[in-house]
Amino acid sequence: MTFTPRVFSGIKPSGDLHLGNYLGAIRRFVPLQDTHETLYCVVDMHAITVWQAPEDLKRWTYEIAAAYIASGLDPGKSIIFNQSQVMEHAELSWIFNCVARMGWMERMTQFKDKAGENSENVSLGLFAYPSLMAADILLYKATGVPVGDDQKQHLELTRDIAKKFNHDFRKQIKDLGFEEEFFPITETLATGPAMRVKSLKDGTRKMSKSDASDTSTIYMMDDAGTIARKIKRATSDAAPLPETAQGLAGRAEAENLVGIFAALSNRSLDDVLGEFGGRGWGAFKPALADLAVAVLAPIAGEMARLVGDRSEMDTILRDGADRARAIAQPTMDQVRRIVGFIR
Ligand code: TYM
Repeated sequence: MTFTPRVFSGIKPSGDLHLGNYLGAIRRFVPLQDTHETLYCVVDMHAITVWQAPEDLKRWTYEIAAAYIASGLDPGKSIIFNQSQVMEHAELSWIFNCVARMGWMERMTQFKDKAGENSENVSLGLFAYPSLMAADILLYKATGVPVGDDQKQHLELTRDIAKKFNHDFRKQIKDLGFEEEFFPITETLATGPAMRVKSLKDGTRKMSKSDASDTSTIYMMDDAGTIARKIKRATSDAAPLPETAQGLAGRAEAENLVGIFAALSNRSLDDVLGEFGGRGWGAFKPALADLAVAVLAPIAGEMARLVGDRSEMDTILRDGADRARAIAQPTMDQVRRIVGFIR
């Protein structure tokens, strides 16, 4: 059986959006609208796996939906919605909690990083989080998921859950008239530069919504002066820029800044270094700041307009949720029958 080419991705409303979210995810969502059915979700149910003040949760939910649209997602083409309006996500994730094995979940590095020393005291939801993520994706039988590098392990788990479900229920799936798999084996779409944008202060750490240091992160809503100041103060090294991408090996901060430049300008690392190789940071950083402002400022302006119009945003999100539900409900009906729930 062939599956409809369909893309799903999501972002958690748990902090202000940053350049890593833009380059690793949002920017790459846009061209997929022309080749696939696309669903882009604001995953508010994921956000509450750690404490969120309800007013912040709402504000960030609107902000992400606005960023999607301001970056070029067209609500006429893509289904844009927030997760909690489609309750089938929660229902399927419960079934997946009963498919996924403890051992699989315990191997999730993101849980270990987030829980840290405090693993006895984090929410049960944080542990089960990857199973909800698998439900997000498989509820729509998505064939591809664009994400940054840090989500790759969760996508592997999604494939494991799909395979185990297809295997455990193969008789019921066949009885329902399916020739082969019920769920697709979803592909991770994570290639290109800037799949892991690093902190501006430490080239070994990823740029993150929850970073305590404000200067390490460029936020999508930062103004031009703030962006320029953060880039100027970004950690670099003493050597001039190398002539080719190979020369970036072992220079994490340089690799990060050149990678950001390449991604923002849609050029290869070698092409960027063809221009800046042999020159110092005093030449490169102002050019990077200008480029970042040229790309981000128009998006930030449109985001500000959209978040100011909550009733327009509510209409878009409600319409998106209706369209998402129309895909999710027939699948969920079949899942219930496959599992053996009486209706
Ligand atoms: P979240 O909200 O942490 O991040 C959203 C997207 O941004 C990417 N990203 C980055 N890319 C490059 N460099 C960085 N420094 C960086 N930081 C974040 C992430 O890889 C992601 O693509 N679990 C997911 C949300 C989710 C989801 C899903 C994604 C829930 N269900 C289903 C895809 C499909 C998360 O926490 O992303």
